Amino acid sequence: MTVPHGLLDGPIYLDHNATTPIDPAVTESMLPCLTAEFGNPSSTHHYGRGSRGALDHARGQVAALLGTTAERIVFTGSGSEADNLAVRGTVLASGVERPHVITQPTEHPAVLRACEALHRWHNTEVTLLPVDGDGLVDPADLAAAITPRTVLVSVMAANNETGALQPVDDLAGSHASAKWCSTPTPPRRSARSRSARPNSTW
Ligand SMILES: Cc1ncc(COP(=O)(O)O)c(C=O)c1O
Repeated sequence: MTVPHGLLDGPIYLDHNATTPIDPAVTESMLPCLTAEFGNPSSTHHYGRGSRGALDHARGQVAALLGTTAERIVFTGSGSEADNLAVRGTVLASGVERPHVITQPTEHPAVLRACEALHRWHNTEVTLLPVDGDGLVDPADLAAAITPRTVLVSVMAANNETGALQPVDDLAGSHASAKWCSTPTPPRRSARSRSARPNSTW
């Protein structure tokens, strides 16, 4: 990747987790969409149909990358919008009378504030799991926190500030060892390796 002039000439930039210059190949493929193919993809006229084709193509590419189908890809205008759509959408569509959400304190504020709003306005119970010194959630803590009313577990794969990588595969398997399931509970990690901090529940 070519380093942009601003970066070469300026102070050392250490915030690529927050935002980073786009690759020139991305600029090149985006240019037609920002110039000639500018139509609203929701419009049925000639210009709109061109943009719709480009959007459908991109949707198919993202789906292939993630190993899913194009109908399951929803583009949003920002990360915060995506978080809100996922968190609020899942909880409000759950149909559960007192829905329960599990998350953890180092989530992005867009997730934590969405959970707060659900708690305040929609009778949602929220559990914040503790993290250890490396910022990681213990899958055993998650398994212990899951209840029959749990409709959503939100744990970021990679932290946007620290870069901590959560054990997502192990966390995703936690429902199998949740206390209300009939499957056998796996051995818990020793008390020493686990966080001393308790869950906080609102
Ligand atoms: C998980 C998560 N959500 C939301 C955001 C904020 O994104 P935006 O500024 O596009 O709303 C970030 C930014 O790092 C993020 O990591």
